[in-house]
Amino acid sequence: MDIKISNLEKIYPNGNRALKDINLTIESGMFGLLGPNGAGKTTLMRILVTLLKASKGEILVDGQNLQTHRKEIRALLGYLPQDFSLFSKLTTFEFLEYCASLAGMHHSRERKKAVADMLERVGLYEVRTRQANKLSGGMKRRLGIAQALIGTPKIVIVDEPTTGLDPEERIRFRNLLAELGQKEMIIILSTHIVGDISSTCTNMALLLDGSVAFQGPPQQLLEQARGHVWKINALDQDLENLKNRYPVISTIPGQGGYDVEIVADQISDYKAKAIEPNLEHAYVYFVEQAAKTQAHHAFNINRANS
Ligand SMILES: Nc1ncnc2c1ncn2[C@@H]1O[C@H](COP(=O)(O)OP(=O)(O)O)[C@@H](O)[C@H]1O
Ligand SMILES: [Mg+2]
Repeated sequence: MDIKISNLEKIYPNGNRALKDINLTIESGMFGLLGPNGAGKTTLMRILVTLLKASKGEILVDGQNLQTHRKEIRALLGYLPQDFSLFSKLTTFEFLEYCASLAGMHHSRERKKAVADMLERVGLYEVRTRQANKLSGGMKRRLGIAQALIGTPKIVIVDEPTTGLDPEERIRFRNLLAELGQKEMIIILSTHIVGDISSTCTNMALLLDGSVAFQGPPQQLLEQARGHVWKINALDQDLENLKNRYPVISTIPGQGGYDVEIVADQISDYKAKAIEPNLEHAYVYFVEQAAKTQAHHAFNINRANS
């Protein structure tokens, strides 16, 4: 099972270029789509689930063209939209059973069993008779996840599924997806939170301003930041200056001042020690690099125009 995205572009009717020449290959397992707000994650996901048309480019799902095989490919999909909300007066059980019918589960007894099992897995079995729109925020999220997973889809696309979950629920949710990811399924998870990517994703892409800034295993993203992350022991009076000059990631009060973590190609004016990067550092490093490239372009364009 794989998804091949080539030269994908999306320009909204108002002229917003949300996706710029996206090339991605997504294979079985858990795939993390990381990027700040406005990067284009939702746009890409809506195109993948056939709710939105691309302006250019091609998507192949197991070799089948998404444009010409919409119906077949849709039948393989489970989707949790970013703005998933529940107005249903149905009970939790009835709601999920309805979703299961839509997903093609027509055998009543099997369907009821699958719904009960799924409610058990997401921890909603106890509230199965409660009206779905009266569930708590976290419970609604979990029901959203359940509706994306019911009917054994081959491809699961979840858009910022951890928003509004407390830390405990986040972990539980990540484990649930990771468990599914082992079953020859493709799971695409978008997030603006680096911590959601972690070790559970076999592969990832970093989307910045509509372009893929990185794709590969998270470990590789981290490698690329090596040698660019620094720790400085700074005095109180240095802090302001440091923050003005460099992207400061963290400031921890230590002996005789602060331990300041900074991402930069090099540091000349302070005594700095290179440290082992983590995913958060790597993310900031890439965002900074992209911002610099853009500033550089803008500078050249301004120069060309003057
Ligand atoms: N319907 C729309 N019309 C015009 N521009 C849009 C529309 N939806 C999103 N955009 C723009 O496209 C870009 C990407 O948005 P989106 O895909 O929602 O990013 P993300 O999900 O990563 O936050 C943003 O600049 C956003 O303002
Ligand atoms: Mg979004």
